[in-house]
Amino acid sequence: VHWTAEEKQHITSIWGKVNVEECGAEALARSLIVYPWTQRFFASFGNLSSPTAIIGNPKVRAHGKKVLTSFGEAIKNLDNIKATYSKLSELHCEKLHVDPENFRLLGDILIIVLAAHFTRDFTPACHSAWQKLVGVVAHALARKDH
Ligand code: HEM
Repeated sequence: VHWTAEEKQHITSIWGKVNVEECGAEALARSLIVYPWTQRFFASFGNLSSPTAIIGNPKVRAHGKKVLTSFGEAIKNLDNIKATYSKLSELHCEKLHVDPENFRLLGDILIIVLAAHFTRDFTPACHSAWQKLVGVVAHALARKDH
């Protein structure tokens, strides 16, 4: 994957403003609400019975933060995302058997969360760079599935 200087700039400028705890929690909660079949992977998280329950669930919040923190690793290693996610792809594909389509869906949800938080700063060019990033992350996580 090649990143232009502009793309890198768009990604890091937004990332510098992201509250990982807030946006991570919101992205994971939205995924569980909008794509309810993903809930079955999180049976151990307790009450996921309604949007309110999901949004207020502390385990969802904590895990959302973990997931978004992990995006930070990708951003630190833009030229080496596959290697960065090799352990995580093993976990998600071989151990958890997550259908890789779900990585794309979570990436798209993250885009929506960023757009909602950063409105004006999330310009089309910025959106485009982030869309590329979530695609590369999804691909890297799915790698072990091929
Ligand atoms: C665990 C990242 C998508 C299901 C994790 C962990 C990270 C992570 C960092 C913690 C690993 C550890 O504790 O060592 C990501 C990233 C994603 C993603 C960056 C980006 C697309 C998904 C999706 C699903 C999923 C789409 C399911 C629909 C899980 C589950 C765990 C996990 C079930 C274990 C949770 C637990 O019981 O602690 N993920 N994940 N992940 N992930 Fe993901």
